[in-house]
Amino acid sequence: MPSRGKTPGIEAGRGKHTETTTERPKLIKPNPFVKDLIPYVPGKPVEELERELGITGAIKIASNENPIGPSPLALKAIKEALPGLNRYPDGDAFYLKHKLSKSLGVEPETVIFGNGSNDVIDVAARTFLSPGDEAIMGEYAFIVYPIVTKLAGASAVISPMPSYTHDLKDIYSRITPKTKAVFIANPNNPTGTMVFGEEMEWFLNKIDENILVVIDEAYFEYADTPDYPNSLDFRGLGKSLLTVRTFSKIYGLAGLRLGYGIGPAEMVSSMHKSRHPFNTSSLAQAAAIAALDDTEHVEKSREVNDTGLAYLAAELERLGIEYAPSWTNFILVNLGQDPMPVYNALLREGVIVRPVGIYGLKTHLRVSVGIPEENERFIKAFKKVLGK
Ligand SMILES: Cc1ncc(COP(=O)(O)O)c(C=O)c1O
Repeated sequence: MPSRGKTPGIEAGRGKHTETTTERPKLIKPNPFVKDLIPYVPGKPVEELERELGITGAIKIASNENPIGPSPLALKAIKEALPGLNRYPDGDAFYLKHKLSKSLGVEPETVIFGNGSNDVIDVAARTFLSPGDEAIMGEYAFIVYPIVTKLAGASAVISPMPSYTHDLKDIYSRITPKTKAVFIANPNNPTGTMVFGEEMEWFLNKIDENILVVIDEAYFEYADTPDYPNSLDFRGLGKSLLTVRTFSKIYGLAGLRLGYGIGPAEMVSSMHKSRHPFNTSSLAQAAAIAALDDTEHVEKSREVNDTGLAYLAAELERLGIEYAPSWTNFILVNLGQDPMPVYNALLREGVIVRPVGIYGLKTHLRVSVGIPEENERFIKAFKKVLGK
């Protein structure tokens, strides 16, 4: 019986596959929309820094997370939901949807959930944008907007942000017949700045009803001032308005990935067609239902943030370092020079902050508000690094 290896066909086939060649294999290329995308760079994980430097006790104030952790009620709900993990989640998030819509005073059919609010923003872009369309966004607006716009084959039209703030008059002036969407983060990341009520009201009254307006309120709960325009208050204008919020920030559930959008039922129903069927997990749904009841945790988180933000601002002031006014859980600091040497020196002190050069903010660092010890540690390390 001939050995398998000597079978002529197999030998020939093997020869073909093992041949060494200097030619690069011609693998499939990404579609043209993906080709030129700049990848999203997340904050450096604490474990990575500790591994690299052989240190322990590093702190991360780089990703605008809630430094006091998740709501204890959410953690309890997660534990209780664990035995059900063999089942698919409720794709429609029925209980969460009803609970949230009741607490917001909106109709359940106007609410859609996503795997983080990033997912909701992406679903909106995939649902409403087509190749050839334009979407307008601020030059320092949240980086996900140009990404989802380009992935949908549309182009991003950039509006300057003087004083780090969205300029809605400028955005309005850039509307053309090709404009299909406008993205506004309010407050905005990475600048922390806010568009105030009067300007928002002017804009939402003027904008065509068939242009998608995404008002991203990821930091809604921190923007605690009477001048802050809650975009849900403009639902009656009959515009294509999508409010986007998240459980990742004040609710402290960034790791679970749960965000939501609120818009006219007709729009939301189209978005349901393009979202993934199970885009929110059963644990995330259970945690969010419980977190909504934990007003104590939200209040405490807001308090810790207010105190920390005031401390950071006062210390920066003392150091004579420019910063943007923040209505969020982070602060944008302008060093007036290449920030990377300072960033790297802070890393060596075990403090992770965030460079934001990817936004075109070439002399800035973004610092998230931590618990008091973290804020103090940052300021101490910052002074040392700056030689102040
Ligand atoms: C303005 C803004 N929108 C959306 C998000 C996305 O948050 P998530 O996908 O965790 O809900 C972030 C996260 O940092 C953000 O800053």
